[in-house]
Amino acid sequence: MQLSIIGSGHVGLVSGLCFAEKGHTVLCVDHDAAKIKKLKAGKVTFHEPHMQELLTKHIAAKTISFSTDTKDAVDFGAAIFVCVSTPSMPDGNVDMRYFEAVSRDIAEHISEYRVIVEKSTVPIKTSSHMRANIERYLTREVDFDVASNPEFLREGQAIDDTLNPDRIVCGVTSHKAARVMQEVYAPFTAPLLMTTIQSAELIKLASNAFLATRLSFINAISRICELGGANIQEVAEGMGLDKRIGKHFLSAGIGYGGSCFPKDVSGMYHVSKALGYDFELLGEVQRVNEDQWQHFLARLEDTLWVLNGKTIALWGLAFKPDTDDIREAPALKIANALIAKGAKVVGYDPAANENAKGEVPDIHTVESALEACKDADALMICTEWSEFADVDLAEVKSALRVPVIFDGRNQLDPDTVKAAGFHSVSVGR
Ligand code: UDX
Repeated sequence: MQLSIIGSGHVGLVSGLCFAEKGHTVLCVDHDAAKIKKLKAGKVTFHEPHMQELLTKHIAAKTISFSTDTKDAVDFGAAIFVCVSTPSMPDGNVDMRYFEAVSRDIAEHISEYRVIVEKSTVPIKTSSHMRANIERYLTREVDFDVASNPEFLREGQAIDDTLNPDRIVCGVTSHKAARVMQEVYAPFTAPLLMTTIQSAELIKLASNAFLATRLSFINAISRICELGGANIQEVAEGMGLDKRIGKHFLSAGIGYGGSCFPKDVSGMYHVSKALGYDFELLGEVQRVNEDQWQHFLARLEDTLWVLNGKTIALWGLAFKPDTDDIREAPALKIANALIAKGAKVVGYDPAANENAKGEVPDIHTVESALEACKDADALMICTEWSEFADVDLAEVKSALRVPVIFDGRNQLDPDTVKAAGFHSVSVGR
């Protein structure tokens, strides 16, 4: 099947490559000429495991191609997946300007039946705006459908999640569109749930808001553990053995970040309000999440007494391991706060140094975990890259000025850290 992608960022490019891998022929479009030039040259535009090999393979097989012209996308694909960004506005609402612009472009160029698929995370009712906007700007009479097919991929596991999803959700308004979506997903083995378009839109936002709520819940429990002398890992294990709760997504830490949870929780909160429901619970989810890194920083300050003039080593700057994405990363919030308090911050991330430096120019970045510790007054682990678990603690101790470890992701075993002679602080234990 011929498929088009409009917006070749994280969701768009990964979806395009995975559709190609499943046997479709894909055209990816983006208005960013530099990005398309790089992709045409066979180079990936962000860090994601297995992406480079798929790009090389499908360019060679001519099962993926790239363009900067939306018209090409409208002409090419039986289904057109809209994957442009839906950023948060300063007031927390979702900025739909890119979606709106794409729907006008589609209206200008569409000449035969197409299914226009929302793949980015969008507020409920986006499809009716899309449909009305396309109809408003159509230059000829053409039949088309709008569908919703939310993407549930996690960064760092994006290719695997997309090739082997837990479920595929398609919101459609006609049998014709349902048949197109069934054909798109025929090569996938996951259960395919056909819903109304509004339900599909809401499934995505509700899933992310629910997962974020789960994280703020376990983070709040970690605070009770600290106050009451319990151990969050034992508590989470005991809770997770209940099949209704499950063990995933119960790791307490310095809070969630990334391009999705912060934006989607805020988006869900505002969308609910606009619909007439005050989703106060989600306001609290956001508050707990912010409080988590601030509390951890306050504990560091309490230990070191004064931060001004101290050097703090930060391990992990990306919002989570296996990605170079630093959006809403708790590590960078901590880095900014430390710098504001007069500390020198020396950061190391296996993939995100460069991005972090772009966002926080005053951070010093180095090329190894051990180098970051040199003469530092404390080490903070902000993102649990697996290589940090293998670092020789004796070497860390001799690199640091004083042996203090603040483990914001509970990555290291506290007994081992203490036995190695460190003052050790972690989350909820
Ligand atoms: C998330 C959703 O998982 C995915 O389905 C959706 O499509 C996009 O948003 P992503 O942002 O890539 O994916 O990362 P995820 O692995 O879900 O982690 C989000 C944040 O939660 C990270 O900052 C991570 O460190 C944090 N997290 C996750 C925890 O603090 N504890 C956990 O137990 C799990």
